[in-house]
Amino acid sequence: MISFQSKLPKVNQSIFSVMSQMAATENALNLAQGFPEFNPPSALIEAVHSAMLNNKNQYAPMPGYLSFREQIALKERDLHQLSLNPETEITVVPGATVGLFVAIQTLVNLGDEVIIIEPAYDCYEPAITLAGGKTIRVSMDLNTFQIPWDELKSKVNSKTKLIIVNTPHNPLGTVFTHDDWQNLNNIVQQSNAFVISDEVYEHMVFDGNNHISVLNIEGLKDRSIKVSSFGKTYHCTGWKMGYLSANAEITAELRKVYQFLAFACNSAAQAGIESFMKIDNNWEVELSKFYEQKRNLFRSHLQGSIWKMLPCNGSYFQVLSFEGHTALNDMDYAVQLTKLSKIASIPISAFCNNREKTNLLRFCFAKNDDTIIQAANILCNL
Ligand SMILES: Cc1ncc(COP(=O)(O)O)c(C=O)c1O
Repeated sequence: MISFQSKLPKVNQSIFSVMSQMAATENALNLAQGFPEFNPPSALIEAVHSAMLNNKNQYAPMPGYLSFREQIALKERDLHQLSLNPETEITVVPGATVGLFVAIQTLVNLGDEVIIIEPAYDCYEPAITLAGGKTIRVSMDLNTFQIPWDELKSKVNSKTKLIIVNTPHNPLGTVFTHDDWQNLNNIVQQSNAFVISDEVYEHMVFDGNNHISVLNIEGLKDRSIKVSSFGKTYHCTGWKMGYLSANAEITAELRKVYQFLAFACNSAAQAGIESFMKIDNNWEVELSKFYEQKRNLFRSHLQGSIWKMLPCNGSYFQVLSFEGHTALNDMDYAVQLTKLSKIASIPISAFCNNREKTNLLRFCFAKNDDTIIQAANILCNL
């Protein structure tokens, strides 16, 4: 047997797959993995089908169909007041995971330091490692869900190439305010760091607040890459569709990497999403209300229970604290709940490298109302 040295020796099967498989085996409600229980709008499915029937079945241009990128630019203008040149500043990619990988490969060289804020989505660190970078962690306060900006600032040095942020946040549901962006801006102005902003939940922001993109911030916009995903926005996570937005200079480099990673992505899905965006240009605005109602439903059915509800300002995740219920740690409690109470969640420690156990579990409420009520009833009856 030839010896094989793993490039990612610490990586195991993702917690999302583990909990989803357990939910299936145990016949438990799956509020673990973050995907909607419902289908994309039928007009979108029909538009993709019709694109296939109309010969959109061969390679699309490398950065995506220009007409599609033009439509994305219009959406970014109308919803986020961004002025993006579709020819030089938008690149369509097969989902945010690929987009993040491309962005990290483009920016990070051997020995560069990359700051991530934990709890963090699980694909950042392996991509940093594969690019030869070193991950530097800063931990959010798990009581207040605030970012310790002073600590983050203290970790920035001449080797810092990149800071990765995520708003709305998975798993905590926090949303960057102007102050957060200003704090980040002040820090990076004194450095050579780029910023990747993972904004895949950008159209799920609640209570009358608006999503603020990294590209809205003077001082950050010329050193940042915004990562977006259609999967989250149009209930089609299985299609793996997304895009990257950045200035022309950064985009030119992103495309050099991307063209040898995937070259292009699903042509029928591009054409179909473009048509749908033209038919329903209010979808994104309605989406925040749609998920806000689901968040409220879940929370209202948990009122008076033993669970402490943490704030959820955006995304489709609600974090609940089980402090005082059990001596079990979050991983063991998540397993017990799946097996005995038939409800699956994700332990927050799975998003933290040091695996320090927490008393927090993440529940995905991108579910039909019946499922949400059923889940809340199970949790209330514990
Ligand atoms: C924060 C965050 N970033 C990126 C992704 C990946 O998105 P995509 O399915 O488009 O690759 C997810 C998916 O759950 C996510 O939660």
